[in-house]
Amino acid sequence: MCGIFGYINYLVDRDRQFIIDTLLNGLSRLEYRGYDSAGIAVDGDKKNEVFAFKEVGKVANLRELIIERKPNMAKSFESHAGISQTRWATHGKPSRQNCHPHRSDPTWEFSVVHNGIITNYKELKVLLESKGFSFETETDTECIAKLAKYLYDQHPDIEFTVLAKAVINKLEGALGLLIKSVHYPHEVIAARRGSPLVIGVRTSKKIQVDFINVEYPEEGTLSADQASKDIQKSSATLLAPPDKSLLHRSQSRVFLSDNGIPQPAEFFLSSDPSAVVEHTKKVLYLEDDDIAHIHDGQINIHRLTKDDGTSNVRTIQTIELELQEIMKGKFDHFMQKEIFEQPESIINTMRGRLDAVNKKVTLGGLRQYISTIRRCRRIIFIACGTSYHSCMAVRGVFEELTEIPIAIELASDFLDRQAPVFRDDTCVFVSQSGETADSLMALRYCLEHGALTVGVVNVVGSSISLLTHCGVHTNAGPEIGVASTKAYTSQFVAMVMFALSLGEDRASKQKRREEIIEGLSIVSDQFREILKLNESIKDMCANLFKDQKSLLLLGRGAQFPTALEGALKIKEISYLHCEAVMSGELKHGVLALVDENLPIIMIITRDNLFTKSLNAYQQLIARGGRPILICNSTEPEFSAAQTEKIAVPKTVDCLQGLLNVIPLQLISYWLAIGEGLNVDFPRNLTKSVTVE
Ligand code: UD1
Ligand code: M6R
Repeated sequence: MCGIFGYINYLVDRDRQFIIDTLLNGLSRLEYRGYDSAGIAVDGDKKNEVFAFKEVGKVANLRELIIERKPNMAKSFESHAGISQTRWATHGKPSRQNCHPHRSDPTWEFSVVHNGIITNYKELKVLLESKGFSFETETDTECIAKLAKYLYDQHPDIEFTVLAKAVINKLEGALGLLIKSVHYPHEVIAARRGSPLVIGVRTSKKIQVDFINVEYPEEGTLSADQASKDIQKSSATLLAPPDKSLLHRSQSRVFLSDNGIPQPAEFFLSSDPSAVVEHTKKVLYLEDDDIAHIHDGQINIHRLTKDDGTSNVRTIQTIELELQEIMKGKFDHFMQKEIFEQPESIINTMRGRLDAVNKKVTLGGLRQYISTIRRCRRIIFIACGTSYHSCMAVRGVFEELTEIPIAIELASDFLDRQAPVFRDDTCVFVSQSGETADSLMALRYCLEHGALTVGVVNVVGSSISLLTHCGVHTNAGPEIGVASTKAYTSQFVAMVMFALSLGEDRASKQKRREEIIEGLSIVSDQFREILKLNESIKDMCANLFKDQKSLLLLGRGAQFPTALEGALKIKEISYLHCEAVMSGELKHGVLALVDENLPIIMIITRDNLFTKSLNAYQQLIARGGRPILICNSTEPEFSAAQTEKIAVPKTVDCLQGLLNVIPLQLISYWLAIGEGLNVDFPRNLTKSVTVE
């Protein structure tokens, strides 16, 4: 996730200081979306000149860099378009070079800021290189700027919107995008597909209507689908822009005065309204596949395809929310937002990697190493906290698909023991932050011992990501709540894909692999189903766990790690003592705690251990225990049971833990809220544990 912000003034005199301040303040508001580097592009002193400033780190660093560079801040612009971005790296480490905006060429004919992932950028890059373009960054975004220039050079009289459509037609993946060009001064193209984008409007006179008509192409214009197929075709057809005579054109009259003359106006383009509300309360949300053209004090909204089922108007709304509220969207806390983001964040983890149609998994970051890993003598997973639990959760699927011995280690304990590591070991470091001191020290230790090291890391450019030989970025987006939620499910999915890649050479596992891939392809929808339980879980927490001192969480096999993760979440934010117990171990001691008062949650979804889990359930019932069950919605066994149930959909056994953990995340959240605790910043804890 990154934050993009644009500011356009039309017939409103603004000096460079004002323009740059507006962009930087916008970026500061969006910093929670990404904070590893930031950059802006504004007009220069001469005609067709662009000033771009980029810096690694927070927006404050960029501000300092601009002060050092001393551009003439007093220079005034009657009309101007500026774009900016704060980055959360997915392609290439955080560096000035990789920082947005990206350019088409050294003179910045086209400048681009982007939020999202272009999954076919490699193909586009190869194509553009064959046309003489040389790339200067490791990003996916750069190809957008270069593609725009390539098309423009062939059709220098092309309209900005036509050009933008041709470019966007060729891009696969997710995007929130702003394009600025010296060929279309004071104009910006803003496009959205999968990444949010909002346009704030400020005018001195009242806006005449509260909607904008959407403009559609006439029959025969290339559809986005068609364009995606074209990617396979020859470069000549691939880069041919659609016939511009086919485009229906109309002018949005919304911002015109009564006599039809454009009015002074300012536009604020942003990844979310938190950066806009301080300037204007009038906003318009773009929908997926909208391409907005902001020019001459107007907004035109275009679609790539006709009759695509979306509304033909975009409403200009008035928002009255407070900033803090907006940053968290409709949620009260970042943790809650992140729990509810999971249907999307796991899709981002799989994007461009899991091909559910052809039943294939491609992890670009492991490609060169996969055969070496297949030959290793064991795989050691090393991590801390939640990340350690995700390793435990996927142990079974690794053993099954790879038949390689698997060890799971807590980083601190591994180092305390100075555990033996060999050159033919593969050591996998799993970390959301990529900066956890224990994991980082264990990584250095394994490097010293000559092992192959692999990272499964959320933060691109973090120490673990940089120090490992290879790895997989989990692409869950920034996680702000101290309690890890979406990072866990994304780690889980990334590692299942890792296991699927390793098992690819085994014909005997093919059917099983296909079953798992199919399961992964519907997990996001199943998450949505489970999240609908939110209200009932909230009530359950208020009714059943109020004023309790302790809680037992039971699970067996692959669900024991789920229980451990749930127990950690509950301890971490609600400060309630909670113990995860392997169901099979109950009878060896813990059963003594059980009576009719002890709150117990038991994970008992269907798998090959179900009958054994039922034994444990019976042991609890026999002692008067009243466990709350997390079971499958289709489970007949408990239909008559006099006990509370949280019913989750059924999936492939090795993925069931992904679904089962969501109610536990919700329980921990509502327990903490019930106690009036600060969910996002629990006492004594920090997000990134960079001390031993
Ligand atoms: C790349 C993109 C990804 C996109 C995909 C589509 C980057 C950073 N990522 O992903 O956003 O969806 O193409 O084709 O460009 N690495 C480590 N240690 C780690 C994690 C990663 O060394 O802990 C290395 C990898 O080996 C790789 C690079 O970092 O060389 C990028 O990794 P990753 O983002 O996972 O690569 P792709 O899946 O190819
Ligand atoms: O950034 P990492 O994944 O390496 O962090 C590891 C643990 O500190 C972390 O998972 C911690 O347990 C979480 N706060 C749990 O919610």
